[in-house]
Amino acid sequence: MENKKKDELNRRFIFREILPEEADQAADIEQICFPPNEACSEAMMKERAIRVPELFLVAVDRETGKLAGLLNGLATDEPSFRDEFFTNAGLHDPAGSNIMLLGLDVLPTYRGQGLAREIMSRYLCRESGRGRKLVILTCLESKVKMYEKMGFSNNGIAESSWGGEQWFEMCYLLNR
Ligand SMILES: CC(C)(COP(=O)(O)OP(=O)(O)OC[C@H]1O[C@@H](n2cnc3c(N)ncnc32)[C@H](O)[C@@H]1OP(=O)(O)O)[C@@H](O)C(=O)NCCC(=O)NCCS
Repeated sequence: MENKKKDELNRRFIFREILPEEADQAADIEQICFPPNEACSEAMMKERAIRVPELFLVAVDRETGKLAGLLNGLATDEPSFRDEFFTNAGLHDPAGSNIMLLGLDVLPTYRGQGLAREIMSRYLCRESGRGRKLVILTCLESKVKMYEKMGFSNNGIAESSWGGEQWFEMCYLLNR
């Protein structure tokens, strides 16, 4: 992303881990961003935000003090995605080499300005600095190109049957 766009995003947003009191907002954003069959439940989102805040990266609108977008995941040594990562934050292993991404959400009014790309770029940089090796996510076919633009490779159809949909598994190599 060109520097001017990045500077503008930095002027408007604070990027950081989630705070416990923001768990409700994260749960609401997930319901706004995804249809009911794809969204993680409020309980799942809150549990994840409270138990694994260090694997969240949120963008906070400096004007409102509220979340505009977020990316969250869990760490593990497992090599591929399975749906239980969505439902069970207890699978998180703080020392895990790999990250399973569980949701990239930007509220509708903040879309189309590069915010998702900036959140992802900062997340990858942070987890690379933590020595993680691989970042894995699943997405619908309509989002494959978006993640390719963010540097991910397509592993093809995923094991996942989340929400009764067909998912693609994508990965990003951080460190060997
Ligand atoms: C998908 C989503 C996160 C994108 O957020 P955003 O801040 O508008 O995205 P950005 O502005 O950073 O766009 C990044 C790139 O992805 C592309 N992109 C953005 N939204 C897209 C969409 N819905 N479908 C396909 N590509 C998309 C953009 O064209 C852009 O590429 P460019 O820089 O070459 O133009 C946001 O629309 C959202 O929360 N949607 C609902 C939840 C969702 O689908 N999340 C991802 C599911 S796996």
